Amino acid sequence: MTILGIETSCDETGIALYDGQHGLLAHQLHSQVDTHAVYGGVVPELASRDHIQRVVPLVGEALAEAGLTRNDLSGIAYTRGPGLAGALLVGASVARSLGWALDCPVLGVHHMEAHLLAPMLEPTPPAFPFLALLVSGGHTLLVQVAGIGRYEVLGESVDDAAGEAFDKTAKLLGLPYPGGPQLERLAAEGDPARFQFPRPMTDRPGLDFSFSGLKTAVVNTVREASSDDATRAAIARAFQDAVVDTLAIKIRRALRQTGVGTVVVAGGVGANGVLRERLRDVAAAEGARVAYPRLAFCTDNGAMIAYSGYCRLQAGQRDPETVDVRPRWPMDELRAPRPAAGA
Ligand code: KG4
Ligand code: ZN
Repeated sequence: MTILGIETSCDETGIALYDGQHGLLAHQLHSQVDTHAVYGGVVPELASRDHIQRVVPLVGEALAEAGLTRNDLSGIAYTRGPGLAGALLVGASVARSLGWALDCPVLGVHHMEAHLLAPMLEPTPPAFPFLALLVSGGHTLLVQVAGIGRYEVLGESVDDAAGEAFDKTAKLLGLPYPGGPQLERLAAEGDPARFQFPRPMTDRPGLDFSFSGLKTAVVNTVREASSDDATRAAIARAFQDAVVDTLAIKIRRALRQTGVGTVVVAGGVGANGVLRERLRDVAAAEGARVAYPRLAFCTDNGAMIAYSGYCRLQAGQRDPETVDVRPRWPMDELRAPRPAAGA
């Protein structure tokens, strides 16, 4: 079964082909960073317009990379949500149109499910059950995963997502969009002893997160401190240390609470090198293993969409023939793959 995956939920057009026998056959990505950089953040209308221009050519390139034609496709998966409505509609419309033209099944997949399954594309994939820490621009979720579609959300952010906190802090420090990777670079040069920020919600039981107070602490420090390079780097360092510490404390707590032996870390913030190293140490100290997707599949990509679509389509799940998106789609609404009636 060869599945085409289409990701258009935000500012990356990702297209990939996944095959049940041969694994990932091709993946193509177009990043809209240059389009949005001048505005300091994603402009939804521009995102949709750019996706429209990129999707079809990228599908052609992915097929060429795999040495296949459209007629070799056995199914199509697209990101149904969560994400920007207009951007999602581009992927949904192209996927549905191709599905009608080729007479093959089309399935809308959940972007965060796709993130958490991304490590399955690596040479030593994690086995169920595992804990998943999903840290992206829009979400911070700690999920217990018993199998595909069998998710229990153990904790989530009550305000800003971790990636959002990175992006906002980067902006305050005068760094260009997208802020996360830029802030990581600046933090590497910062004096860790100069500033100390809170580790929100770590002093009470539970697995929820909050990052808006941390952002306020940064705002106040930026206002009071000088704006030389060494100070900016020290603030970046103190912020990153606070986020990494907070996530590490919650992961340790979740490992002890559940007794699960594997943690998957996925989503854009999972590309952060300091976080990756720290969580590896925390897991090792608890006798657990951390599984990461390769860096390119931490941030948004088509491969994870093709893979999740494959898992559900090969289990017989089918969607009604509509162009359907869910800009807001709580993860606990997901269920294990269900074959369509009569399938
Ligand atoms: O998963 P993703 O590509 O898109 C969403 O689904 O949101 O995540 C994007 C987020 C952005 O907030 C970005 O700043 C953050 O991930 N990010 C990072 C790093 N690379 C990307 N945050 C911290 N350190 C990084 N190296
Ligand atoms: Zn994402």
